[in-house]
Amino acid sequence: MLDAVSQSANPLRILDAGCGIGTESLCFSYFGADVVGCDARSRVVRFADRRREFFSDQCGRSLACRFVHGSVFEALTDAEFDAVWIREAISHIHPLERFLEDLHGTMAAGGIVVIREHNSANRFVRSTLTRRLKQVDRELGSVYCYRDAESGREFEFADERPFSLESISRLLGDFGFEVRVAFGLGAIPKTLISRFFIFRPLRRFAYQWLWNAERRVGRRRVAWRWAKAMVVVAVRV
Ligand SMILES: C[S@@+](CC[C@H](N)C(=O)[O-])C[C@H]1O[C@@H](n2cnc3c(N)ncnc32)[C@H](O)[C@@H]1O
Repeated sequence: MLDAVSQSANPLRILDAGCGIGTESLCFSYFGADVVGCDARSRVVRFADRRREFFSDQCGRSLACRFVHGSVFEALTDAEFDAVWIREAISHIHPLERFLEDLHGTMAAGGIVVIREHNSANRFVRSTLTRRLKQVDRELGSVYCYRDAESGREFEFADERPFSLESISRLLGDFGFEVRVAFGLGAIPKTLISRFFIFRPLRRFAYQWLWNAERRVGRRRVAWRWAKAMVVVAVRV
């Protein structure tokens, strides 16, 4: 995404769907994008906005980043976007089919969608999710109504819908997106590095090496089964 941001002739208009406290929104805007971060929880949106003020002060310029409280459905219809970034949110957005339809309907051909999510093809990730889902099912059901305490507004959230690289790619294909890049993340455990590299300077190089290796390994289908998380980059056709 950062490559797309820096190579774009005009500021790339990005929607960070389900932005949380807005870390990536701030990062994209720092590198020149024009970002809208949207989240249903007003507390996190307020916090994201305070972070925007703080980082704008730190870099001596106002970051082109706006945080809005509301549903991603509203954000999609409010403005046009060249790219939509969805980190750890696709498993919560409900109804997902309507979201993907809206995404396709509102983006122009060539628009980019980047999804980063945990990979439920990994059996440890899947078993953690299943345990959690069983608990949630007992109490609430896996789609529940979230009531925002400050605004009093209600939103429907899905709880941790499990996806694999194959299933998310298929889904995007069904809704008119072409998957260009798909890779697993965390196929090589980083904890190995933290445990064994006690010298901080070496650790930095080790992480760099690990990140490069991870990207190479993560693109191979065989790694799609055990990667902890995944990234899919798709283009609206
Ligand atoms: C696990 S958090 C991820 C936050 C952030 N993207 C990150 O990676 O740190 C998922 C977020 O999606 C938001 N979300 C889920 N469904 C939403 C919807 N329909 N509209 C707006 N936000 C939504 C939740 O409020 C939550 O903050």
